[in-house]
Amino acid sequence: MGHDLEKVLIPEDELQAKIKELAGRIDADYAGKDVLLVGVLKGAVMVMADLARALHVPVQMDWMAVSSYGAGTKSSGVVRVLKDLDTDILNRHVLIVEDIIDSGLTLHWLLENLKSRNPASLEICAALRKPDAVKVPIEVKYVGFDIPSEFVIGYGLDYAERYRNLPFIGTLAPHVYK
Ligand code: PRP
Ligand code: MN
Ligand code: MG
Repeated sequence: MGHDLEKVLIPEDELQAKIKELAGRIDADYAGKDVLLVGVLKGAVMVMADLARALHVPVQMDWMAVSSYGAGTKSSGVVRVLKDLDTDILNRHVLIVEDIIDSGLTLHWLLENLKSRNPASLEICAALRKPDAVKVPIEVKYVGFDIPSEFVIGYGLDYAERYRNLPFIGTLAPHVYK
């Protein structure tokens, strides 16, 4: 693995501090409310685990698995639901939890989909955001880090399903995917 990693972009302690900071804001914003955290499988598992444990407001956790249509590039914007929520979100305070917003297309689709189920409120918390995401008009209330357009791995983020378990965010050496 060592030689596949180019550099550490965000070390573990900075990630953890940021998650705690976001949790503090969420605690304040949702005081007196129950929150339904909706994690987007699989990338969001690490953020979900850390964020949920850092929160003090009462939370429930549910999960969605989504996939882009077609064999070609991901994030075509047309999304297929592989696993839907188990929970009815009508009148619930829903907070979508994501590891990264890249093109923003997955989240754009997911927002529309969940909005149509009439939650009491719907917000997004993402650990990372790439510059392209700003092209899609979605409001992300809680963002950990704005990062450059590099291939990042770790903290839930994979390259070909690997490296999700790294406790930090790193960049993948170009020779691995070229
Ligand atoms: C990644 C990431 C986000 C999405 C962001 O998921 O975890 O969910 O892509 O891309 P976008 O903003 O361009 O739509 P992926 O589809 O790789 O599935 P995974 O979470 O199982 O890795
Ligand atoms: Mn994902
Ligand atoms: Mg992925």
